[in-house]
Amino acid sequence: MAEMPEYIPGLAGVPAARTSICLIDGIVGKLQYRGYPIEVLAEQGTYEEVAYLLLFGKLPTTRQLDEFRGQLIAERGLKFRIIDLLKTLPESGHPMDALTAAVAAMGMFYKGDHIEDLEFRRLSVIRLIAKLPTIVAAWHRIRRGDDPIKPSTELSHAANFLYMLEGEVPTRLAERVFDVALVLHAEHSMNASTFTARVTGSTLTDPYAVVASAIGSLAGPLHGGANEQVLATLEDIEDRSPQAVRRWAEDRLARKEKIMGFGHRVYKVKDPRATILQGLATQLFRKFGSTPDYDLAVELEGQMTDLVGSKGIYPNVDFYSGIVYQKLGIPIDLFTPIFAVSRVSGWLAHLLEQLENNRIFRPSQIWIGEADRTFVPIEERG
Ligand code: ACO
Repeated sequence: MAEMPEYIPGLAGVPAARTSICLIDGIVGKLQYRGYPIEVLAEQGTYEEVAYLLLFGKLPTTRQLDEFRGQLIAERGLKFRIIDLLKTLPESGHPMDALTAAVAAMGMFYKGDHIEDLEFRRLSVIRLIAKLPTIVAAWHRIRRGDDPIKPSTELSHAANFLYMLEGEVPTRLAERVFDVALVLHAEHSMNASTFTARVTGSTLTDPYAVVASAIGSLAGPLHGGANEQVLATLEDIEDRSPQAVRRWAEDRLARKEKIMGFGHRVYKVKDPRATILQGLATQLFRKFGSTPDYDLAVELEGQMTDLVGSKGIYPNVDFYSGIVYQKLGIPIDLFTPIFAVSRVSGWLAHLLEQLENNRIFRPSQIWIGEADRTFVPIEERG
């Protein structure tokens, strides 16, 4: 028998691709998209510009960006049968499941002959980035009995999403804050959902199946789903005095329970996205007033740093995103769908890169079962 390779749970540290999309150094907290620091992109870029950068590897010129924006705006609308499909789903269901269903169905409405057809590939990428926000907003309205709002043809990607939720054009600050949140979530190298996208894409299936599978992967509480649970975690802390917060954290850690919004497979320092989001939260609070949850979050971060900072457990991107979204008036169960609305550009950049030099994923395994067993007829089994 051939020599057994070493088994690495969760494939931790095993390279799954050669890539030039996203660089992370978790030891020093460095994150770059296509070689540009996240701090610069968050301050100077827009989501559309960053999506272009991720997909095509370079920053767009004004003409290229205008054209890209125009293509996205033209594809924002949903076919009425996709809206009909959303109407058939149980309103108590999670929006991530509604999003998975609608995106998977898009593959039936926008059938291409083959992913090798470059025009089909290009159009699919535009459609997916353009329509995900419309699906999430439409589902949110449909489940509470309201009609979906038609997407604007004037507003930015970020402002249009907020507009489609309640029909109100957001303030400049709300638009900017949400746009930065989208930039921060757009890409993050070989995490579970991106790996899922690359694996699914490597079979040469259509991009709608690729994104539907990635959304399913993102939904889990150890991945994108954590952002919804951070606010519930904060709610769980009744006494918000520093001593009580410390006791609460010690108690959780003693029971080996995970505290949502902390820890990261790659970062051993504070996630740089959490730092940027925290800055956005303070901008929002200056304008619209603070929230007790924010003060509690800062206290919890301090106590956790004291207790487990030495183990490399610090706030991740999800820790402050929920507080920001809540201040923007976004319902909690839309937090993870918003993550998908942003991350879709990263998934698609990885799909395009995978297809450039594709080889179907087919890892090996370590057999731990019994082999060569004898089949015993059912009447003779004890
Ligand atoms: N709270 C308490 N302890 C933690 C936490 C946490 N949030 N995260 C890790 N630890 C501890 C573990 O208990 C373990 O301790 P031990 O060595 O004493 O057993 C050690 O740190 C290593 O933890 P693992 O779970 O093995 O680390 P891994 O790299 O596999 O997991 C993960 C990373 C899944 C993000 C983990 O930190 C976690 O579950 N965090 C909470 C969920 C969360 O916030 N997810 C969002 C991640 S960011 C994103 O997906 C966008």
